[in-house]
Amino acid sequence: MTASMQGKTVLITGANSGIGKETAVALARVGATVVFTSRDPQKGEQAAADIRQRSGADVTLMPLDLASFPSIRALAADFLQRYDSLHVLINNAGLVLNERTETEEGFETTFGVNHLGHFLLTQLLLDRIKASAPARIINVASNAHRFARGGLDFDDLQLTNGYGGWQAYGRSKLANIYFTRELARRLEGSDVTVNALHPGGVNTGFSHDGDVRAPFSWLFTLAKPFLRSPEKGAQTSIFLASAPEVDGVTGKYFADSKEEQPTPIAQDDEAARRLWTASEELIAQADA
Ligand SMILES: NC(=O)c1ccc[n+]([C@@H]2O[C@H](COP(=O)([O-])OP(=O)(O)OC[C@H]3O[C@@H](n4cnc5c(N)ncnc54)[C@H](OP(=O)(O)O)[C@@H]3O)[C@@H](O)[C@H]2O)c1
Repeated sequence: MTASMQGKTVLITGANSGIGKETAVALARVGATVVFTSRDPQKGEQAAADIRQRSGADVTLMPLDLASFPSIRALAADFLQRYDSLHVLINNAGLVLNERTETEEGFETTFGVNHLGHFLLTQLLLDRIKASAPARIINVASNAHRFARGGLDFDDLQLTNGYGGWQAYGRSKLANIYFTRELARRLEGSDVTVNALHPGGVNTGFSHDGDVRAPFSWLFTLAKPFLRSPEKGAQTSIFLASAPEVDGVTGKYFADSKEEQPTPIAQDDEAARRLWTASEELIAQADA
């Protein structure tokens, strides 16, 4: 049973479908004030209607394209103006791309959306999150961080040499874990926790709709009988957002609502610190 979220404000990125949408339904059902983002307004409106109908609660839709710093800044400014508190931020949106493309600021899109966009969004909202403590930040990572066997290539974070879609995705999900660990370290003593998770293999629209994801669809079609439903795939996000058992637990990686160890490379806190500095520098360069 999901604990009551009465009086809690939750922001979920990319919740017009899949795991994010099911997380929104479940948290709205237990009384949270749910704000969710969609990059496509039409998909967002359809999802809002579905979430309202299934949860019996109102939810608010806000536009957000994580491949655009102006969009991230506009969302953060709008949110901060409309909401006095933010108790749970769920960085859920993500994508995998067959071909290398770039965000509005010229970052490789998988890195830009899955990591850097959420890094910037979290920074912009962090003071409000701290002021709302106890509060939680949840980063939807993936066991696909295992694909990044050699870790991150700090000399080529934008994957300009020999791009591969799953390699880019794996690195971006490793970046989610590094971000979680370093942010947890920086938030020590603040009563704001941050954890990462793997949702399992989930039968969502992931990798086979929109953008240039189609070439990956055969993998998901083959895997379909073994994938869990989006409702089940949302369970660890819902657990980390609401469960009293994880009060004060921070910097960890969860799967099936239990703590797990990510790969040894993902536990490299020096690399996590390095990614933090690099991310700050990339944002400063884009703003210059
Ligand atoms: N499905 C799995 O088996 C699996 C396994 C491990 C981890 N994950 C992770 O789970 C998270 C949710 O994925 P899902 O499976 O629920 O897939 P999904 O249904 O495709 O949801 C992904 C969400 O991210 C949004 N998004 C993509 N690019 C965006 C951008 N530039 N700006 C803002 N939002 C953007 C999508 O919007 P659109 O609808 O407009 O594309 C969608 O709302 C992702 O972080 C994914 O990496 C999934």
